[in-house]
Amino acid sequence: MTEAANVMLELEDIQSGVLRPRPAPYAATYVLFRIDDRKAGRELMRRASIFVASAANPTSPAGDAWVSVALTFQGLKALGVQQDSLDSFAWEFQQGMAARAHALGDTGESSPAHWEKPLGTPDVHVVLTALSPDAPRLEAVLDRARKAYQELPGIKAIWRQDCHALPTEREAFGFRDGVSHPAIEGSGIPGTNPQERPLKAGEFVLGYPDEMGGLLSMPQPEVLGRNGTYVVFRKLHQRVAAFRQYLKANSSSPEKAELLAAKMMGRWRSGAPLALCPFHDDPELGADPQRNNDFLYEEDDPIGYKTPIGSHIRRTNPRDAAVPGVVSLHRMIRRGTAYGPLLPEGVLEDDAAERGLMFAFVGAHLGRQFEFVQSERVNSGTFIGAGDAQDPIVGANARAGSFTLPRRPVRQRLPGLPRFVVTRGGEYCFMPGLRALRWLADLDT
Ligand code: HEM
Repeated sequence: MTEAANVMLELEDIQSGVLRPRPAPYAATYVLFRIDDRKAGRELMRRASIFVASAANPTSPAGDAWVSVALTFQGLKALGVQQDSLDSFAWEFQQGMAARAHALGDTGESSPAHWEKPLGTPDVHVVLTALSPDAPRLEAVLDRARKAYQELPGIKAIWRQDCHALPTEREAFGFRDGVSHPAIEGSGIPGTNPQERPLKAGEFVLGYPDEMGGLLSMPQPEVLGRNGTYVVFRKLHQRVAAFRQYLKANSSSPEKAELLAAKMMGRWRSGAPLALCPFHDDPELGADPQRNNDFLYEEDDPIGYKTPIGSHIRRTNPRDAAVPGVVSLHRMIRRGTAYGPLLPEGVLEDDAAERGLMFAFVGAHLGRQFEFVQSERVNSGTFIGAGDAQDPIVGANARAGSFTLPRRPVRQRLPGLPRFVVTRGGEYCFMPGLRALRWLADLDT
């Protein structure tokens, strides 16, 4: 157990994947399962409680690699969890991601009707994620997990997505990812922004006080809810050629194109934040974890001359900037892993390859964390007085949006912003604690 302030986090009961940042570089695999036989499903939970590492013991037998197991609402039903317990889960989770499509901006080409099957269907019951620093170690952990499910005839693996760090060690648009993370009281894992105080554990793990000062009502019985959390998986296709074409069409030189990319993200591609180096990239700063997230906005840049208020990182985490609402209530743990081939540097034509990000959110509040940020920050500009101007990089800019750059003497508005990210599917999941996995294994309904 780790003690911090007044919280004792039961790390030995929390899945390691909840708190542990993903390695860099990395190799990852997502496997989805359908439970055809409830007894086999329970046996899978029992085996999972053995091969899933706890947050207290981040070094699994396979070294720096680990497996996480999460269930959809349909999965809990397939295991035979009783109705009163099912009813105690967050209502967004009960509905599932596909049913929340409208609220999430998953419309038009991103709508569930176009999702990759079986994503968003009632067939998805269990999501297994394996993450490791390289392919050989990934195979080793996968091997052990495979032994656990292959001999179970009532369990069917129905989808698999392999992810791997690109040779550039950046995400597909070319930016360093995995930089900014909140610190969590009692987790023992430091945050990355020394100017952000650690957040209450209840924001990320169920069963502990949260930022509202109380205990969130958690799934019942307590043994099932405690030390669990909600996880959101989204397969997001990235239109890299379209992004490059847009930068080129709206800039007079390659240097200006890089500046525009940085203005849209809030960071240069190296990860260096505009807040600390507004005029030119600084790769050394970008690569330095002591400095690359050490900044706030309000005092130094309230208007957004350095970091536009509409940029991806400033709208998804406004830090201390004056925006309506309380920023600490809308934070999240993120674990992005890339899939698909790199579009070679300089290529402006679309090669029709599937590439993008498996976006993963971890947090105790699906509604006020993930859904709020997705709908109110990414897909709306109202909170910054920008009407329907959406996130310039990941927004559902369906009808061609616009991006505004605060500048002196007059701001610059770039119209005709197309959609660069398309949803290929996703799921809302519950990631139980290890005791809860055993409780699920012992169900006798
Ligand atoms: C393909 C889609 C996406 C890409 C390529 C992408 C890329 C990035 C990059 C490069 C960063 C900056 C590096 C870092 O802080 O780790 C970042 C930060 C962030 N992104 Fe995304 N992102 C995507 C989707 C999303 C979505 C859907 C959300 C939320 C609903 C989101 C929320 C955040 C947050 C909260 C941060 C941290 C901001 C901060 O603390 O400064 N991102 N993203």
